[in-house]
Amino acid sequence: MAFRVLHPTDEFLNYMPFIIKQPETEEEFEQYYDLRWRILRAPWGEAKGSEIDDIEDRCYHVMVTDDDDCIGTGRLQYNTDNEAQIRYMAVADGYERQGIGKLIVEVLEREASSTRHNTIMLDAREPAVGFYEKLGYEVKEKSYLLFNSIQHFRMTKTLK
Ligand SMILES: CC(C)(COP(=O)(O)OP(=O)(O)OC[C@H]1O[C@@H](n2cnc3c(N)ncnc32)[C@H](O)[C@@H]1OP(=O)(O)O)[C@@H](O)C(=O)NCCC(=O)NCCS
Repeated sequence: MAFRVLHPTDEFLNYMPFIIKQPETEEEFEQYYDLRWRILRAPWGEAKGSEIDDIEDRCYHVMVTDDDDCIGTGRLQYNTDNEAQIRYMAVADGYERQGIGKLIVEVLEREASSTRHNTIMLDAREPAVGFYEKLGYEVKEKSYLLFNSIQHFRMTKTLK
């Protein structure tokens, strides 16, 4: 069921005009994947469809909307009984640095906690490492190079 989440912290309640929810309808999933493609694939010339992998139906998806536009996405996948992974974090152009990414990560972490996945790992693009550090993630090692150009760093966080 789609839901309107009261923003997880009082800080957000004070000013955040956006809605965060799980995409549910076909149209919502279209918007959700489209933003992933526009932010994470199109700038490198990657084809539509490259933003979708084969485990989407087993993952927890979150989108943020402004009116009816999808302006933020994030996904949690379950790697093992206690480890989850954050992927496909994307905030639309013009909406960065307003707390949307932080809000998405908080909701994904809440889902991870509630399913007893107390360790979260992710592979951060180099320019996003500082963002995850602000949210308590630590760099463990250099990981892969995407599209021959985007260095990723493996980061982890243990949830309390
Ligand atoms: C990285 C991204 C998800 C961050 O989302 P955002 O909504 O802009 O981030 P927020 O506004 O929630 O930022 C939370 C905190 O991190 C800081 N921050 C945000 N982006 C940062 C960055 N690139 N480097 C360092 N700090 C950053 C913010 O200043 C803020 O700090 P504060 O709490 O002290 O004010 C977003 O910029 C994005 O989609 N980038 C392009 C795609 C991408 O790289 N995705 C990640 C793939 S691994």
